[in-house]
Amino acid sequence: MNTDSALLAKRLIDGEKLKESEYLLLLSASDAELKEQLRQAAVKQRRRIYGNEVFVRGLIEIGNHCKNDCYYCGIRKSNKNADRYRLTPDEILFCADEGYRLGFRTFVLQGGEDAAFSDALLAGLISEIKLRHPDCAVTLSLGERGEESFRALYAAGADRYLLRHETASPDHYKKLHPPALSFANRMESLRILRKIGYAVGAGFMVGSPFQTKADLAKDLFFIQEFRPDMCGIGPFIPHKDTPFADFPAGALEDTCFLLSLIRLIVPEILLPATTALGTVHPTGREQGILSGANVVMPNLSPVSVRKKYSLYDNKICTGEESAECRDCLNQRMQAIGYKIVTDRGDKRTKGANNNGNL
Ligand code: 5AD
Ligand code: FES
Repeated sequence: MNTDSALLAKRLIDGEKLKESEYLLLLSASDAELKEQLRQAAVKQRRRIYGNEVFVRGLIEIGNHCKNDCYYCGIRKSNKNADRYRLTPDEILFCADEGYRLGFRTFVLQGGEDAAFSDALLAGLISEIKLRHPDCAVTLSLGERGEESFRALYAAGADRYLLRHETASPDHYKKLHPPALSFANRMESLRILRKIGYAVGAGFMVGSPFQTKADLAKDLFFIQEFRPDMCGIGPFIPHKDTPFADFPAGALEDTCFLLSLIRLIVPEILLPATTALGTVHPTGREQGILSGANVVMPNLSPVSVRKKYSLYDNKICTGEESAECRDCLNQRMQAIGYKIVTDRGDKRTKGANNNGNL
């Protein structure tokens, strides 16, 4: 074992902050033994705070129109093959009602950047969901809508906002996005969301085109400094109708290693084992949980639109009904010694659940 990286791993496990250059060393020089040590330490932290409970979020993909043209994304505006849709407010409310019946207490409204989902429409929708299900959290994942919109939707009752930073490196950001999109705006949006009062989710893809270990070290350092409430990471997966169609997918092992590191960097963070992880490997989500993740986000969208919300190729769960995915995930989590709970799944403060010895 490389002694430098072993020392860094120990400092991280002991709760010390590391420098960006130290994260780079850890990413570059960790061998299988050290990675396993870090994985076990991450699971221990996760168990100390969240026991064996897995939080579940019901994902409602409200529409796939998008004004942006991110090079990696299957619903980018230039993709003329995308079959565009928008759910109506009644359809969205129906999904939430069905989700509530199935035990979901968080609904994530996700979609492209689409002015047709006006603040007034969304605010009405959010307040209606909260009226019908006051014990639920509403999470938004609708891109860079701007401060005024973020404020209006927060006032309507939204609790959380997911906006992956995508990469913490300005140079890498330019390689993933057209010039109309700016790294500075992205980061500023995250700061505004936090200032307003949202629980904020950042995140990035693993193995995206042109990503280097130095970029990933920047991501880890950013997570350490910004301390988001949530962090969505999953492997990049190519979509056939995008400029990145011919790039390889990110690796399961790399994603799992990063999940462990993020758990150690921010022990109380909400960390999903994403659908993309389940897409690159049949037991990807289980392996994500066993690396330190504590959230799963099955789909509650109507089966009729699921194939249309195609950010990448071969996405799983596009043919299953919501109840089937819920049962499937219950079984999968049970099989590895974890259990999905009916709970809003808010972030816990460190040590709130003292189950470290489970
Ligand atoms: N592969 C994996 N993840 C993707 N996303 C978008 N396109 C892809 C892809 N091809 C992720 C982005 C975005 C989130 C909603 O989905 O990180 O923020
Ligand atoms: Fe959807 Fe397994 S979670 S089928």
